[in-house]
Amino acid sequence: MARIITVGKAPSKYNVIIAKNALTKANLLSHIKTKNKVFIVTDSGVPKKYLNEVKEILKDKKKFYVHVLEKGEKSKSFSSFMTIQEKLADLKFDRSDCMIALGGGVVGDITGFCAATFLRGIDFIQIPTTLLSQVDSSVGGKTAINIKQGKNLIGSFNNPSLVLISSKFIETLSEKEFNSGLGEVIKYAFIGNKKLYKLLKDNSESIKHRQLKILEEIIEESIKTKAKIVTEDEKESGIRAILNFGHTFGHAVEAFNKYKNITHGEAVIIGMVIATKISFHEGHIKNYQLDNVINLIDSLGLNSEYKKYKYKDLKQFILNDKKVSQGKLNLILINSSGKAFKTDKFNQRNLQKAFS
Ligand SMILES: NC(=O)c1ccc[n+]([C@@H]2O[C@H](COP(=O)([O-])OP(=O)(O)OC[C@H]3O[C@@H](n4cnc5c(N)ncnc54)[C@H](O)[C@@H]3O)[C@@H](O)[C@H]2O)c1
Repeated sequence: MARIITVGKAPSKYNVIIAKNALTKANLLSHIKTKNKVFIVTDSGVPKKYLNEVKEILKDKKKFYVHVLEKGEKSKSFSSFMTIQEKLADLKFDRSDCMIALGGGVVGDITGFCAATFLRGIDFIQIPTTLLSQVDSSVGGKTAINIKQGKNLIGSFNNPSLVLISSKFIETLSEKEFNSGLGEVIKYAFIGNKKLYKLLKDNSESIKHRQLKILEEIIEESIKTKAKIVTEDEKESGIRAILNFGHTFGHAVEAFNKYKNITHGEAVIIGMVIATKISFHEGHIKNYQLDNVINLIDSLGLNSEYKKYKYKDLKQFILNDKKVSQGKLNLILINSSGKAFKTDKFNQRNLQKAFS
C-alpha cells in the first residue's frame, strides 16, 4: 500500500507518494492529465530502465522530450541551465506543459530551478532515484545551481507539484550513495524523530541489506519530519535551520576534501558527530546521549571518522559557511530531550574540543 504525505501550504501543497513502485500510470497520468508536453531531465548515471518506465507510461498519451545531463555535481551549472532553457523555448513549452526530474539531488535541483524560472514558472514533478533525494532534496522546494564562488548560490524556493518515490530504485544504488542517503535519514532521528531513531536502532541489519519495507518506513518518517518543518517555515526564516544539523561542519569537510572522494551525506555524518560533541561539551546532553549518536552511526556501518579532521584545517571553511550571519557563527545543537536548536552562544573552546 502506498504511503501518502501532503507537504506545504495552499496554493502550493503537494503530495509525496511512497511505495515499492510509486511510478505508476495512475499516479503520473492522473496528475498530468491537463498538461500537454512533458520535458524529462535525467542524468547519465541513472539506470536506463527507470527512464524507460517513464517513457512507457507517457507513450501514446503525451508528447515528451528527454534531456540527459552528464552525471555529477558539475551538471548543476549555469551552462546546463541555459541549455535546458533554450531547449524548452525551442520546443515552444508554455505554462500548460510540465517538467519531470528523474534522478538524484543534482537532477532535482537543476530541474526545479529551470521550472521556477522558465516563463516565470511552470509545473514540475520530482521522481527521486537516490536515497538522499528521496528523503531530502525532492521535498521542501529548494532548487539551485552552483557557480564558481560556491554551491547552491543561485536558486529559488519552488515546490514540485508531485513527488513519486519508488523504494525499488534504491536497489541499484552504490554502497557509497546508499550510505550518503542514510546520513540524512539519521539526521531526522537526531533532530527529534524518536520513532525513526528506534526504527533505525532496531533494524540496522535489515536496513544495511536494503529491505524495501523497512526502507519505505524510514523514508516515510524522514519525510514526515521534513514536511512538518518546511511547511511551517517554507523560506528558512526560522525553524527550518535545524535541518542543517551537522551541515556547517559537513560542508567544511566536503570543501576541505575539494568535493572529491566524500559524498554530501558522508560529510554530514562527520558534521553531526562534531555538532553532537559540541552539544555535550556545552552541557546540553549527557555522555550516554553522545554515545547513542555514535553507536547508531556505527551500527549502520557508516563512517564517523571525525578524528581525521583538525579544527585548524576546517576553520576557514567553517567561517565561510552560509550560516555565518553578521560575523557570528550559528550552530545547530541538540538538547537532552533530543530536540535541535539554533544558537550563536557557545564557548569557542568547546567548539575546538569537539575535534579532539
Ligand atoms: N534541494 C535540497 O533541499 C537539497 C538537499 C540536499 C542535497 N541537495 C543537493 O543534492 C545533490 C546531491 O544529490 P545526490 O546525493 O542524490 O547525488 P546525485 O544526484 O549526484 O546522484 C548520485 C549518483 O547516483 C546516480 N544515481 C541516481 N539514481 C541512481 C539509482 N537509482 N541507481 C544507481 N545510481 C543512481 C547518479 O547518476 C549520480 O551519479 C547536491 O547537489 C546537493 O546540493 C539538495
